[in-house]
Amino acid sequence: MSTREVVVHSTPEVLAAATAARLVTKLVDAQASGRVPSVVLTGGGTGIGVLAQLLDSPARDAVDWRRVELWWGDERFVPADDDERNEKQAREALLNHLPLDPARVHAMAASDGKFGDDVDAAAEAYAVQLAGVRAFDVVMLGMGPEGHVASVFPESPAVHDERPVVAVRNCPKPPPTRISLTLPTIRTAAEVWLMTTGEGKAGAVALTVAGAGEVAVPAAGAVGTSRTLVLLDRAAASQLPAGL
Ligand code: 6PG
Repeated sequence: MSTREVVVHSTPEVLAAATAARLVTKLVDAQASGRVPSVVLTGGGTGIGVLAQLLDSPARDAVDWRRVELWWGDERFVPADDDERNEKQAREALLNHLPLDPARVHAMAASDGKFGDDVDAAAEAYAVQLAGVRAFDVVMLGMGPEGHVASVFPESPAVHDERPVVAVRNCPKPPPTRISLTLPTIRTAAEVWLMTTGEGKAGAVALTVAGAGEVAVPAAGAVGTSRTLVLLDRAAASQLPAGL
């Protein structure tokens, strides 16, 4: 039985700080039970904001960072040093400051990487890496104003793609070419955290949360999993149906 919880924070900063603390707790608990947790990071301002808050959190050092597997939900298929790269933004916001095991940081290929400009090969290679993953502890997701998550945009072929990882072209949100986990892969997670802030997202959130009982990409499949947390600020929550 899947559960969905909606948590509304007063501001984007409070949401980011609270979610950073939630992530630390999740990682520490997993490690206390002898596991190496797997976390999927997201791009976008909200996702990077959580990492930035974690950088300054005193609780950060409670995590044994060498025993954390990091993945990405999507990546912009641009050169590795391009400021648009989700990996580059995550490294600058937090990862470069942590004693991570480089072998446990699984970045998606850049357009000047080992696959050159072959974004399909890069996506397929990430799927091969994922094949060895028992299950993600957490998939963190931002959401676009029309309801996209990762780089799965409503009405795009990626919505119904059953492969684990796909190349996505002509994305409405630049850069246009990306690599993304698909909804079936997102659904394998123990928890999905949809983190969304701002008035501009209220319509998509209201549609999503009031939709099929799970977090859904509007006009597409649900990304809900056994436990979906919808983490909002007041502005994004402003149009939620009453009584949720
Ligand atoms: C990306 C993200 C994307 C993002 C949303 C929300 O690579 O662009 O993965 O899915 O999370 O567009 O972005 P904001 O948090 O900046 O609104």
